[in-house]
Amino acid sequence: MRGISVMRQLVLVGVVGLAACATMQPEPTLYERLRAVDSTGMTRQGRDAIGVVVESFVANLVTDTRVNARFQGKPLGKLTSSLADQICEASGGPCSYYGQNMKTTHQGMKITEAEWNATVEDLVKALDKHKVGEREKKELLGALGPMKADIVGQ
Ligand code: HEM
Repeated sequence: MRGISVMRQLVLVGVVGLAACATMQPEPTLYERLRAVDSTGMTRQGRDAIGVVVESFVANLVTDTRVNARFQGKPLGKLTSSLADQICEASGGPCSYYGQNMKTTHQGMKITEAEWNATVEDLVKALDKHKVGEREKKELLGALGPMKADIVGQ
């Protein structure tokens, strides 16, 4: 009698568990939530949205007199695509950044705190230009923030 009751309870737990699995959606990743409005007013998603933002970010960097000397003569196409891969990967998207790590990449540049702040400002300007949501903007900046220690003063 007691055995049957335990068995029933186990079956019930199993059924409830299966039902929960079927209805529970995992929280969408930052990558899945990311939206950017392009210059024609079209809303872009995913890798496409990241591409739009990164293009503006790099355009801001090369016109920002606080940092643009750093990028003179550098392969901007490669920088743009590396940044897009990196942001895509950091936001939980289906991309991989195969470049060198941030410490090695910025080694010997002696990047200052002021340059870091200017760069973050240029990124925020690009995110705002393309109307990226406040939550997504904060999360993206939060994902890139910890890289500061490997970039500044190396
Ligand atoms: C969130 C901050 C930053 C991120 C995520 C970032 C990311 C990257 C990545 C992925 C590359 C490699 C491009 C490649 O070789 O394929 C790169 C290169 C570079 N970064 Fe940064 N960076 C950041 C901040 C900065 C700052 C603050 C500066 C200086 C103002 C800077 C200056 C450069 C320069 C000059 C290169 C080109 C190196 C070269 O081609 O020789 N970066 N960065």
